[in-house]
Amino acid sequence: MALRNRRLRSTALLVAAAGALVAGVLTGSGTSQAATSQPCDIYASGGTPCVAAHSTTRALYGSYNGSLYQVRRSSDNATLNIGPVAAGSYANSAAQDSFCSGTTCVITIIYDQSGRGNNLTQAPAGGAAGGPDNLANATSAPTSINGHKVYGVFVAPGTGYRNNHTSGIATGDAAEGMYAIFDGTHYNGGCCFDYGNAETSSNDTGNGHMEAIYFGNIKVWGYGSGNGPWIMADLENGLFSGVNQHLNSGDPTITNRYLTAMVKGGPNKWAIRGGNAQSGSVSTFYNGVRPNVSGYNPMHKEGAIILGIGGDNSKGAQGTFYEGVMTSGYPSDATENSVQANIVATKYANATGGGGGTGGTTLTPGQSISLRATTACCTTRYLDHSGTDVGTIVVSSSSSSTDKGNSTWVVRAGLANSSCYSFESKNTTGSYLRHQNYVLHAQPNDGSSLFAQDATFCSQAGLNGQGNSFSSVNFPDHFIRHYNNIGYVASDGGSNAWDSATSWTDDVSWAVSSPWTP
Ligand code: AHR
Ligand code: AHR
Repeated sequence: MALRNRRLRSTALLVAAAGALVAGVLTGSGTSQAATSQPCDIYASGGTPCVAAHSTTRALYGSYNGSLYQVRRSSDNATLNIGPVAAGSYANSAAQDSFCSGTTCVITIIYDQSGRGNNLTQAPAGGAAGGPDNLANATSAPTSINGHKVYGVFVAPGTGYRNNHTSGIATGDAAEGMYAIFDGTHYNGGCCFDYGNAETSSNDTGNGHMEAIYFGNIKVWGYGSGNGPWIMADLENGLFSGVNQHLNSGDPTITNRYLTAMVKGGPNKWAIRGGNAQSGSVSTFYNGVRPNVSGYNPMHKEGAIILGIGGDNSKGAQGTFYEGVMTSGYPSDATENSVQANIVATKYANATGGGGGTGGTTLTPGQSISLRATTACCTTRYLDHSGTDVGTIVVSSSSSSTDKGNSTWVVRAGLANSSCYSFESKNTTGSYLRHQNYVLHAQPNDGSSLFAQDATFCSQAGLNGQGNSFSSVNFPDHFIRHYNNIGYVASDGGSNAWDSATSWTDDVSWAVSSPWTP
């Protein structure tokens, strides 16, 4: 009660406020010269060329020097295309970092490198869910290739990309192949984190109208051995792990941090393959005839492309995508093995500095901290809780021990993602900072996966250049913010009052300070 009044009083004030596969390539002129053969060069030499090639991390042809993706920043809605640093090379993330400095960016377009114009953009509404879907935060999936920082596509539930007007993608029962690299530790049991071929209407038009790679641990349709996650094929009205509708024990649980996932399909044959994108080869998890369920032989592929969603725009799933392609024709195992060798040689590895971007003060689990607001109005105020209410209060050395304890947090490894953080109340052990309907609370951990997600925040350098900013792991464009001295997770210029763009950047930047209660 007292806390609320305190906040209300101050409201008025605030209203103002592969390389390795280096191949000797014969050029048209007949001169032999070394060129790096990237995945789509390998598929082309195998007679199954890429008809779509998507990556925010690197060029998928040795000669590709066009745009990889486009970002849009929230400060002025300006957009920037990001290309590789050189033909055939890794993405120029420095260009993104400088363009997005002090604001937030989303990925608006993932360009098709195949020359067919099969770009992925914000998915529209579909039969299962409205739209348009959310766009991925451009800094939520930092990674590196061969030591160079780049960014993947972080799909939180609600995020989705699509192209319903493609060129050259398999239709009907025609053969195709595809692979993608995912984060094998980022998945869930929602429908459906997919990459591949889907309906051009965004509706479920029946069995066999899709053929996409799925990754996650939903068990509504098929599943493999263990507890998941599994690589499966989304063939519409069914995720298939093999010939049977439900269990196929040849499809293993697979959780490599960087995961190569492959699905290919042609007339009455298809296969699932997968492996560790950082080493070794891909294994075959299924190779055989179409499922023993009616409607999948022949197939009725429609040729749209989806990323992060199901064929009917079901968008409850999450995952991270780094790169992927779709081919014309059924790639041989040998061709796919060469692609895997190229992927391993690309040397995917974690970016240093923890999840959700880099920079700011390093946090160490176990340490106690206080978080001081950096907005000019409020630099004596600290993030606190009173009971379950979260906001900011003025704290000084003469404050009560209750106020000091209420404004001290113990850093914990993120309950939902250990490269991010959770914040446990210093004086209410077992209660964590979590959002609910975008409002922050300090609540006891109920052990649910929703609680873990709602209580996990990824740290990055403060968006106003001071301290740290903390993005929600399940709503990555939402950051811990104070607004009228109450705590929220807020997006810049979003639909709630507390998403106000005015002083957003300052309100989401927190100075990591010595704990008021050590
Ligand atoms: O096949 C699984 C899912 O079922 C598809 O992705 C979706 O279109 C439908 O809801
Ligand atoms: O805060 C946004 C969402 O609201 C949380 O994820 C959930 O707990 C609630 O429905």
